[in-house]
Amino acid sequence: MLNIVLFGPPGSGKGTQAEKLIKKYNLIHISTGDLLRSEVANKTSLGMEAKKIMDAGELVPDEIVIGMIRKKLEEHKSGPGFVFDGFPRTVEQARELRKALTDYDERVTMEISLEVPREELLKRLVKRGEESGRSDDNEQTINNRIDVYERQTVPVTYYYEKMHKHVPVNGIGTIDQIFKRIVDAVEGFEKFHEPKA
Ligand code: AP5
Ligand code: MG
Repeated sequence: MLNIVLFGPPGSGKGTQAEKLIKKYNLIHISTGDLLRSEVANKTSLGMEAKKIMDAGELVPDEIVIGMIRKKLEEHKSGPGFVFDGFPRTVEQARELRKALTDYDERVTMEISLEVPREELLKRLVKRGEESGRSDDNEQTINNRIDVYERQTVPVTYYYEKMHKHVPVNGIGTIDQIFKRIVDAVEGFEKFHEPKA
């Protein structure tokens, strides 16, 4: 399997680039944000609880997102692999992902981290808020989402760095330019880690 953790702050382009990656490599896209928004849209009890947390820009409890991930892994366990978008967001989630994949004799191949400065993130998300709008795309919540990312989520990069799986990618430019950098990163990484004959 090719299992890519697509990492980065809110607005860095995880969702945009994940769509392209799954097409190119025929992978399954798992976005915990999208899964949670679908619970909210369906007004489930989990969704009602999650909505308050998401509208404040805070993180939903680890157990909830881990449960969602385990369900998706089981559904697609015989597929070619996954793009994890917006997950793991805490070191605890990263540890749990490792355990869950180990149950299928699998592991995270690499973590690709889209690097985009705060001013650009704000610009992108404020624009989306004005155009289509997610309820968390307002300036106050966006700033809190970025603060939460810096405080609670950045440590996940150190977790993967220790395993030599962390690959930073410049997330500024056109969508296609960034995608090319990601593909080069995936192919360079795979080549380097290919088993020697
Ligand atoms: P989530 O849905 O994951 O949102 P996020 O991380 O805040 O990020 P976004 O989805 O807003 O941005 P993105 O990086 O996907 O960028 P996109 O491609 O959309 O999480 C939402 C909430 O759910 C969290 O706050 C939390 O409450 C909860 N949650 C989710 N996962 C969780 C977890 N694991 N644990 C706990 N809680 C969790 O692009 C953004 C915009 O920029 C778009 O309009 C796009 O068109 C535009 N754009 C993309 N690329 C470019 C480019 N190159 N140049 C210019 N504009 C661009
Ligand atoms: Mg997204």
